[in-house]
Amino acid sequence: MQDTKETNIQINKTTEDDGVIFMSVKSGDEQKKASDDKENVTILAIESSCDETAVAVVRNGRTVLSNIISSQIALHTVFGGVVPEIASRKHVEKINYCVRAALKEASLTLDDIDAIAVTYGPGLVGALLVGVSEAKALSFATGKPLVGVHHIEGHICANYIENKDLEPPFVCLVASGGHSHLCIVKDYGEYEIIGQTRDDAAGEAFDKVARAIGLGYPGGPKVDKAAKEGNPDAISFPQAKIPDAQYDFSFSGLKSAVLNYLNQAEMKGQEVNTNDVAASFQKAVVSVLTEHAIKAAKEYGYDKLAIAGGVASNSGLREALEKACAENGIRFYKPSPILCTDNAAMIGAAGYYEYKKGVRHGMDLNAVPNLPLGDRERRFHVNSQK
Ligand code: KG4
Ligand code: ZN
Repeated sequence: MQDTKETNIQINKTTEDDGVIFMSVKSGDEQKKASDDKENVTILAIESSCDETAVAVVRNGRTVLSNIISSQIALHTVFGGVVPEIASRKHVEKINYCVRAALKEASLTLDDIDAIAVTYGPGLVGALLVGVSEAKALSFATGKPLVGVHHIEGHICANYIENKDLEPPFVCLVASGGHSHLCIVKDYGEYEIIGQTRDDAAGEAFDKVARAIGLGYPGGPKVDKAAKEGNPDAISFPQAKIPDAQYDFSFSGLKSAVLNYLNQAEMKGQEVNTNDVAASFQKAVVSVLTEHAIKAAKEYGYDKLAIAGGVASNSGLREALEKACAENGIRFYKPSPILCTDNAAMIGAAGYYEYKKGVRHGMDLNAVPNLPLGDRERRFHVNSQK
């Protein structure tokens, strides 16, 4: 058992013969499974948008009865990034096992489940299709309602799991491998985007810089670790500001500045201190994210700020926002690191609020690789059935 130190979350990890890491994430909520309150809504949630096959059982949006993550990171590491075809094939191999494991850990059967929630976008189309097909099959076979969930909305809802008091409205900074958004969570399932990246996502920048300085994949956690040993003031990297859109981000200039620094050092025959590059790069990203998020909370008048997505597990970002929020009288919310990166508990949380709104998807639900955040128009045959 590994303890995350920050919370009472425990992660039980085993490495399978094929290199896939199987994790059972426990939050101390499991004891509540015996409750048979008729008002309870118990959701089986499935996530397969990238390289994690994940299945969770979540009660009433905030109580995690089981949370299984089958991580393929080790398989993609040799290629320096996620190989979509390998990801899809592994999802197919693992998904039924993960569903069974999630139900078993929750001590429930499909009969006890009220709805099946699944990520249907954004993400890798082949990977998404595995989760969507599994969810449709389970829904069809059991007659339980199907609820499609937006992956990024899932990341935002991860905040509800450990912060039982958190309710909208609040500001949320979402930073993952494919997205960097600053948004206002106006209500459950209602999001207004006030800023987003013009080019690379924050996580993408971490991954590209990690590759350039020889740390390899997955970049974010490796840069985070190296940065702890480096001097954040060693190199002054640019922090892009976009004059006509104060909440937008741009990380491609910063990435190019790191590449230029490395090229120049090589041409001059100078040695590069990898830890200093990591620390200085991370400082530049963290400063921009923190500054924008605090400015948004103050200018829009919210006293609650949450973070979400893989980059939200970055130790430098968590510390900087903790400090900035304390200085500005803002309450800061952050999921445990294992709930920041891809998992299905967050999909169960988001799925619950969609379910309560009456969202039910039909058998025509399909994977939508570029599904925009908050765009309800593009949703498949949604029937409102309260
Ligand atoms: O949310 P996520 O697991 O998947 C997507 O929806 O994209 O985010 C993955 C991204 C990757 O780019 C990864 O490098 C980054 O989150 N990441 C981090 C850290 N852990 C993961 N970035 C910075 N520091 C970390 N500790
Ligand atoms: Zn994600």
